[in-house]
Amino acid sequence: MQPEQDAIPHSDPFALFAAWFAEARAGEPNDPNAMALATATPEALPSVRMVLLKEFGPHLGEHGGFVFYTNAESRKGAEIRANPRAALLLHWKSLERQVRIEGPLEEVPRDMADAYFASRHPDSRLGSAASDQSRPLDARATYLDRVAELRAHYPDGAVPRPPHWTGFRLTPERIEFWISRPHRLHERRLFVRGDDGWTSELLYP
Ligand SMILES: Cc1cc2nc3c(=O)[nH]c(=O)nc-3n(C[C@H](O)[C@H](O)[C@H](O)COP(=O)(O)O)c2cc1C
Repeated sequence: MQPEQDAIPHSDPFALFAAWFAEARAGEPNDPNAMALATATPEALPSVRMVLLKEFGPHLGEHGGFVFYTNAESRKGAEIRANPRAALLLHWKSLERQVRIEGPLEEVPRDMADAYFASRHPDSRLGSAASDQSRPLDARATYLDRVAELRAHYPDGAVPRPPHWTGFRLTPERIEFWISRPHRLHERRLFVRGDDGWTSELLYP
């Protein structure tokens, strides 16, 4: 076989993520910021669901971060409280790429959650304020009634952020980039954060 260039050279993983994310935003028809969030109970029972990546970069926290927002009283919220570590997975189907990110989680500062909540569409604010996310619901009408009640109080949708609706920042310890290559000779590069910063190595696909 001919020698070939690495498609994923060693570089700063945040810069590489930003470049791939920009391509995904340009190329993915739907929710390029959708990612699977895996959490686990302290007994190591795993669970996974999709959330939206709302902010990322080296400026977030001491070692950079990836931020999503949710209800801290949800199933994932309870798991995060008891075991504050998670794994994220972004898969961009049309680009044939995936990124895996792992590390500990912390709640974002209150002013950051306030600012993001205030930036959301009024209906989304009402909907999340009215939701006991992950708890049983007897009928959809019950939820819609709650939304309508809140709307009556806050006709412009300016409902305050419920304290349990917040963001979490994952501080990455490992970031793995995967890209499809011809004939399934795919390419993977794993970045690991150590005391002296990020190192990386290729992994067999
Ligand atoms: C594409 C997509 C994006 C989603 N984004 C979010 C999100 O940003 N935050 C959130 O709380 N739930 C989001 N959800 C809903 C979650 O997948 C999940 O149903 C909900 O958070 C409850 O999860 P839990 O019971 O495991 O806590 C999204 C679902 C999909 C399909």
